[in-house]
Amino acid sequence: MTLPDGFLWGVSTSAFQVEGAFTAAGRRPSVWDAFPALGGRDASVACDHYHRYREDVALLRSLGVGAYRFSISWPRVLAGDLGFYDRLVDELLAAGIAPVVTLYHWDTPVEVEEAGGWLERDTARRFADYATTVADRLVDRVAMWIPVNEPAIVTLLGHAIGQHAPGRSLLFDALPAAHHLNLGHGLAVGALRAAGARAVGTANNHTPVWADGDPAAADAYADLHNWLFADPLLAGRYPDRLAERMPVRDGDLAVTSAPLDFYGVNYYNPTRVRAPSPGNPLPFELVDIPEYPRTGFGWPVVPAGLTEMISVLRNRFVDLPPIYVTESGCSYEHSPEDTERIGYLAAHADAALEAGARGYFVWSLMDNFEWDSGYSQRFGLVHVDYETLERTPRASFGWYRDRVRR
Ligand code: NOJ
Repeated sequence: MTLPDGFLWGVSTSAFQVEGAFTAAGRRPSVWDAFPALGGRDASVACDHYHRYREDVALLRSLGVGAYRFSISWPRVLAGDLGFYDRLVDELLAAGIAPVVTLYHWDTPVEVEEAGGWLERDTARRFADYATTVADRLVDRVAMWIPVNEPAIVTLLGHAIGQHAPGRSLLFDALPAAHHLNLGHGLAVGALRAAGARAVGTANNHTPVWADGDPAAADAYADLHNWLFADPLLAGRYPDRLAERMPVRDGDLAVTSAPLDFYGVNYYNPTRVRAPSPGNPLPFELVDIPEYPRTGFGWPVVPAGLTEMISVLRNRFVDLPPIYVTESGCSYEHSPEDTERIGYLAAHADAALEAGARGYFVWSLMDNFEWDSGYSQRFGLVHVDYETLERTPRASFGWYRDRVRR
């Protein structure tokens, strides 16, 4: 195991959100390609990163970051196209930038979904086979591996409430998807290690949960958002309240809890939770956090929430591996001064350092396709003109360049 030396400054993107090129080299469709709730907006061009990656790596080089976190498209790999990632990884290495690879950032191939997707146990096995295929090609050149990005969002938004693809609204019947994602993670960790991966971790999104009057409601929410995905990886168990609903077979929890070289935290904001109103089928209800400034998305800006979350993790898990903040960022309307984005990132980077994290990755290098919000939310250090695809570094890009050099 070898993690990169020193504090690692980076930026993150994901395949579906930036690549475009839906049909290049026979790429298969993903569940997000034509997700009906997008109302006609799609990512068929997105930032056209698939064709413009050289320009984007040149931006990364001028930014001066040590690492670039991107994801691999399972639908491309099913079509046998690993050439794009080969070229991208070589371009990064030539620029002195460590490739950090996510294997699954939500773009499930339609053929995998049609076979049952994450509700089906066999998907975990297929995912591990895919991990082997990618590792066989790239393992000698990739610095850090992340099998699954934010399984909580895939489970909760994708399978419980239908806001994300594949658009299932199963409420608690979505829980098998969580176990199969955790199992897929564990099997992929084994596949990556067998192929000789240097460092393997994860990227879980975490939120400190603040109780508004009812601690039991807050605990119920924390179980679903945080512990359903952290406990099986870091402690080989499921939260008591959910354990009996999980389709666990003998030996599964040893697989999900295979030792990790690092633990990635994606942090955006805290969550405030109260008891459910009458008629609400869930054991909690989310409420507003009005006392903080907000991002363009309306998310509260609470850098201390990152410090709090990392200390909650350290208290819950005795043998926590080194922590990296694998995503942190905010959407704002474009403005030349970019003051709010700079303020957000400066405060969160300081919080990551203060909490003893080993790295900090800004979401995102450039504006991109923000899932069910389409192109309306701009998270980039680089502005993207979606008509011309022209990239223009924002003031926050210059700020981050100075920050990583400090
Ligand atoms: C987390 C996700 O990993 C990423 O895909 C998304 O764009 C950001 N959050 C912002 O919502």
